[in-house]
Amino acid sequence: MTRADADLRSRRWFAADDMRGFAHRQRMQQMGLRREDVLGRPIVAVVNTWSDLSPCHAHLRERAEAVKRGVLMAGGMPLELPAMSLGEVMVKPTTMLYRNFLAMEVEELLRSLPIDGAVLLGGCDKTTPALLMGAISMGLPAVFCPAGPMLNDRYQGKTVGAGTHTRIFWDERQAGKVTPQEWVHLESRMTRSPGTCNTMGTASTMTAIAEALGMSLPGSSSIPAMDSAHPRMAADCGQRIVGMIREDLTPQRILTRGAFLNAAAVQMALGGSTNAAVHIIAMAGRAGVQLTLDDLDAAARRIPVLANLFPSGDRLMEDFYYAGGLPALMQILREHLSLDEITVTGRPLREQLEGSVVQDEDIIRPLHRPVSPHGALAVLRGNLAPDGAVIKPSAASERFLKHRGRALVFDSQPQMQAAINDPQLDCDEHTVLVLRNAGPVGAPGMPEWGNLPIPKKLLQQGVRDMLRLSDARMSGTHYGSCVLHISPESAVGGPLALVQTGDEIELDVPARTLTLHVDAAELARRQAAWQPPVQPYGRGWTQLFQRHVTQAHLGCDLDFLQAGPPTPEPVIF
Ligand code: FES
Repeated sequence: MTRADADLRSRRWFAADDMRGFAHRQRMQQMGLRREDVLGRPIVAVVNTWSDLSPCHAHLRERAEAVKRGVLMAGGMPLELPAMSLGEVMVKPTTMLYRNFLAMEVEELLRSLPIDGAVLLGGCDKTTPALLMGAISMGLPAVFCPAGPMLNDRYQGKTVGAGTHTRIFWDERQAGKVTPQEWVHLESRMTRSPGTCNTMGTASTMTAIAEALGMSLPGSSSIPAMDSAHPRMAADCGQRIVGMIREDLTPQRILTRGAFLNAAAVQMALGGSTNAAVHIIAMAGRAGVQLTLDDLDAAARRIPVLANLFPSGDRLMEDFYYAGGLPALMQILREHLSLDEITVTGRPLREQLEGSVVQDEDIIRPLHRPVSPHGALAVLRGNLAPDGAVIKPSAASERFLKHRGRALVFDSQPQMQAAINDPQLDCDEHTVLVLRNAGPVGAPGMPEWGNLPIPKKLLQQGVRDMLRLSDARMSGTHYGSCVLHISPESAVGGPLALVQTGDEIELDVPARTLTLHVDAAELARRQAAWQPPVQPYGRGWTQLFQRHVTQAHLGCDLDFLQAGPPTPEPVIF
């Protein structure tokens, strides 16, 4: 037995020669395990977010078996623990309402059970930050095993990807260019296999960020879910976690400020989802690392979009894998990275990147030939967003990056849905569409409603983009000139609550400003008359969430879950 094995946390449950230790061993024997299976070897939780309503995780039961194989080969004992499954498309009103719930579940699962370390299986949007946030707060060695992107699809000779093309085809249907029959046929396209969205949506962004942070094995986030390299990678995760437990390689040793700045650089080079701005700040908050929107804006100004992936480019994750995947991209970014950061391998990033090369310079571009002249993120401030707002310039229309127009305001998503297809709607292509009460408290959960639909009458005139503003988020697979995450949100009295239809709003992305052209005296008058919206959530999780969620610029974590004094280990009696 190594010294580390003598110190294993799980021995608190299994080693004592008393009635309680007897009962713990007895119950494992009830499961068919032998005494020696749980005594004196690392116990690894295989935290699995599989479910029948989580198509992106449909293969994770099989992958859990591969992880277990790796754990057993390294001398550990794997035990699979199911955790809440946040299938992005099915969960309403939004998975974001439950990200912190899953993070709490993971933290408390690991704390309350005889676990020495964890392999975290997931990948669909919020699952990745949730698993990591829980693991960070618990502080046991953990490795994130990404679900991997689904396979590419092609339709009528063109590459089509999940999410991005759903929106494109829907707009075309609204414009009368896709028939009802074709629309039904399209249901069976774009999502060809288990795995996460194959565009550079939130899932691909967050799994890449997990790897850039050092919490996943090198290259793992780019492997397609259905590639045979994927179960091999899962087995590697299982093997490695046993070593990490013996080395006591905890998230706290990996997640430095340098690691988070590396992750921000990768987000920008990928043209990653704006959602990452919320998640990365929340994860840093759990790790006790100071990270702000200004850090992300600085990264976006420095690092161009190099990955030619939807929605900023025109390729998919399978192509990115063939082109060398994330290690090749990070190799290109070397001069912008902190190469001394330690990862789950126990080695510094600089060693890991050795030998990584780009195989296709159309998909992973050199620094001097970016995909877009505009960055993946811009942080805006002004009298409409005193604490910040974000936009993804690389997925917006050039003409809206500097734009002034008349506001058309919707007080809620249902009100907007009811009005948006009205032929009499008072708008044109220059109008600024505004949606409020869609933030963390207001919606609640800050859903991905920020890509407001283009009014049908304008779609039929050929309009495909407008300037849109909200306190909501936007799917990372989507595109358009959408100002998001306006903070503070309207439901807590942010200035967005005071905008009226007909007001002039000005966006200036190069200057990073968002301005409501209404004088201060008038705004003060409107503020004095403002009443918070009535909330119907009088109990339960949603009420707890609304009471404690932080605003978007702070990461939307629950205030009592952010880094603080360590929680004591449970008493065993
Ligand atoms: Fe799961 Fe997109 S819906 S990753």
